[in-house]
Amino acid sequence: MSNEPEISYADLIQRAKQQLYDSSETPRIDAEVLLQHVLNKPLAWLLTHGDQIAEPEHLVDFNALIARRQTGEPIAYLTGVREFWSLELAVSPAVLIPRPDTEVLVEQALVLLPADRAIKVLDLGTGSGAIALALAKERPLATVTAVDSSMAALDIARLNATTAQLKNIEFIKSDWFSALEGQRFNLIAANPPYVAEGDPHLGRGDLRFEPDLALASGADGLQALRHIIEQAPNHLEDNGALLVEHGYDQEDAVARLMDQQGLSRKRCFRDLNDLPRCSLALI
Ligand SMILES: C[S@@+](CC[C@H](N)C(=O)[O-])C[C@H]1O[C@@H](n2cnc3c(N)ncnc32)[C@H](O)[C@@H]1O
Repeated sequence: MSNEPEISYADLIQRAKQQLYDSSETPRIDAEVLLQHVLNKPLAWLLTHGDQIAEPEHLVDFNALIARRQTGEPIAYLTGVREFWSLELAVSPAVLIPRPDTEVLVEQALVLLPADRAIKVLDLGTGSGAIALALAKERPLATVTAVDSSMAALDIARLNATTAQLKNIEFIKSDWFSALEGQRFNLIAANPPYVAEGDPHLGRGDLRFEPDLALASGADGLQALRHIIEQAPNHLEDNGALLVEHGYDQEDAVARLMDQQGLSRKRCFRDLNDLPRCSLALI
């Protein structure tokens, strides 16, 4: 229980904003989101109840979250949720926090996937299930196979599929294609780890708190992409497509890898910051 003097929600937000000033670029938004989370109320409620005095137990919970945020812990891990493609996904430190840029991959996948027939889709490295769930939701006739080598990630992805009431996804623990021998798909989508080991970005911002397995991939960041692109032709149906997310500076390397496998590279798509972000190849 808190021994703090009484404080209104508006003053609490103001105080937290100052506490977060050095550790966050969005201190007021962070404070509001964390208080909404503690109170389990929407922002509109918070804004119209600013004069209300905070309950002592809410104060304790909120102060604990602010202290964690001051160390840089991502908001999504503090609230346990992140929105992606209008799905509210549970997230934990076992999974990458889904990025808005990955919605570009989903958009392009949907251009390729017919809505009126049964098709087979593979999501490699599903993490929270972001890509698999978005595609399963938009293409109810599709069967989506979602794989990850992390059982903890698969548990989160399964939970998200259950919450979203999506039944057209199966989850498989697999080191990339290893558990999929003999299986072929109309579309293989992947957002694999693609940061070079030792890249200084791994020690900054949200990345410090996200799983290494989801981020780093060999000395050049291309280890997973190389493996996926090499193996994809063995798992694509005739006229199948491979769509992979990659680093903004990996467009040419990915194109070369696709060419080496005899895949006809169609094009590279840009993300919300207008940077090259995902590449498509057809078999
Ligand atoms: C960049 S995260 C992508 C997560 C999710 N698809 C998304 O877009 O938010 C990469 C994922 O690949 C998984 N992964 C890493 N190595 C793997 C492997 N050898 N086989 C299968 N999955 C792997 C990680 O556990 C992680 O969930």
